[in-house]
Amino acid sequence: MKNSDKYKMRVMVTGGAGFIGSNLLLHLVSHYPDYLFVNVDDLTYAGNPANLSSIESSQNYCFEKINICDYKPLSACFNIYNINAVIHLAAETHVDRSILEPAEFIQTNITGTFNLLECSRTASEACDKFRFHFISTDEIYGSRLSGSFDELSPFSPNSPYAASKAAGNHLVRSYHKTYGLETVISISSNNYGPFQFPEKLIPLIISNAKQGKELPVYGDGQQVRDWLHVSDHCQAIDLVFHQGQNGHSYNISSSDESTNLALVKQICQLLEDFNEAVDCEKLIKFVTDRPGHDQRYSLDSSKIRTELNWKPQYSLETGLRETIKWYLDNSEWLKNCSNGDYLKYYDNNYSNR
Ligand code: NAD
Ligand code: DAU
Repeated sequence: MKNSDKYKMRVMVTGGAGFIGSNLLLHLVSHYPDYLFVNVDDLTYAGNPANLSSIESSQNYCFEKINICDYKPLSACFNIYNINAVIHLAAETHVDRSILEPAEFIQTNITGTFNLLECSRTASEACDKFRFHFISTDEIYGSRLSGSFDELSPFSPNSPYAASKAAGNHLVRSYHKTYGLETVISISSNNYGPFQFPEKLIPLIISNAKQGKELPVYGDGQQVRDWLHVSDHCQAIDLVFHQGQNGHSYNISSSDESTNLALVKQICQLLEDFNEAVDCEKLIKFVTDRPGHDQRYSLDSSKIRTELNWKPQYSLETGLRETIKWYLDNSEWLKNCSNGDYLKYYDNNYSNR
């Protein structure tokens, strides 16, 4: 057990073993030696503690395997470490899974968020300054064929995942308004980069292409996503956490939009440039579309750009090249993920694809 007394801030990061959480912790633990980071993660199929091996023995980092839906151990963890800030990322995150089995999404993304807010409300009463940062998604706003959503746009979620995240936003807002809890919310577009579980489009396509497997494109592949490199997202989270206005929300996006089909073709081209595949566009297979599939996400991120002076460092072209290189250099990581229950799950539920 770490002695938390000597640290200026004791920050609980939930979901720290997941894709964005591990990238965020790798950034924060080295940049803020005077903070203690307590990673609370239940290690579901999406949690991979190996991502954090390089900081495991850092003085200012520790890991607690706790399900955020279990109030008692969660509340005990707040007390043990004298937590005075939360960055809440833990969630069920894959839209396709939310369509097949929504119950877990309601539990973790709504009840889990509620538990964290309750613990935070209690903890905030016992300290001078407490901050709760909720990591949200552009999916809460729904789909839009032209223009962009700003922070005042109404919510219009279309999948159980998106609806459960929107509920999280509402709960956070209510704790700010009703109990005066200091909160910030950041709302980002699709992330990509190292450590992303290969059920999500970009690592799935890289993994399949390397193995000569089919590259599944839902529907006609004309849906548009706005891709943000995870390290640009982590920089933005750092800024919002430290400088975001109390009670405010901040959209985060690079405005680097691409159709899914164009993106898959771009990945194929880059793999060929790296001599890792030949003619891999031939592997593209148009498969049954996702029910309720959002046609386009697009965020107006001018607020964070002007207020907090954030701007992304990566173009999609550069970020994608670097990301593909990372997956090629870390083929063991990819193989280990692919051998897990992800494949069994998909074999059982998507066997017709
Ligand atoms: P991920 O699926 O890679 O990781 C989720 C993590 O949460 C895993 O480590 C998992 O073990 C943990 N977790 C799940 N349920 C838990 C529970 N009940 N108790 C404790 N831990 C639990 O997710 P990600 O892609 O890194 O996303 C992180 C956050 O960012 C999520 O809140 C997501 O909604 C949001 N977000 C993601 C994206 C994206 O493109 N990936 C974009 C915008 C917002
Ligand atoms: O927009 C932010 C969201 O991005 C996050 O909140 C979610 O947690 C994250 O999972 C992601 O959701 P998407 O559904 O947009 O991501 P995914 O990688 O699953 O799919 C990206 C697009 O590619 C989407 O239009 C569906 C399509 N797709 C996906 C897969 C897995 C395919 O065409 N084929 C596939 O095999």
